[in-house]
Amino acid sequence: MSGAAQQVITGRYLCHIGDVADGIARGFAVSGLRPKVIVVRKNGHLHAYLDACPHYTGGTPMAWKSDAYLNGAGTHLACHSHGALFELATGECVLGPCLGQSLTKIDVTITATGEVFAAI
Ligand code: FES
Repeated sequence: MSGAAQQVITGRYLCHIGDVADGIARGFAVSGLRPKVIVVRKNGHLHAYLDACPHYTGGTPMAWKSDAYLNGAGTHLACHSHGALFELATGECVLGPCLGQSLTKIDVTITATGEVFAAI
């Protein structure tokens, strides 16, 4: 037996880090969870949020087509229903009808081999 510490992973598998290139956002279905989980990678940082716009109670899926979660400039997550924009790093709405509200942030763990797990 080696003396190396073993990483204990809790949570649910989302994707492999290689599935989300820098500057890209993708949605991943999680078994038993209605909204997808959006994973966005920017400048080497990975962030995850429920695909549930806070404009309406219960949350509205934000993409107008598969994985279309970013605005045109790639600077913000966008809800395409009414144009809300959300900060990539915090999920806070900075423009639109839910100004000041935030997406539900999901903590993630990335293993040494690149698997991404969501703390949900
Ligand atoms: S449902 Fe997202 S901005 Fe209206």
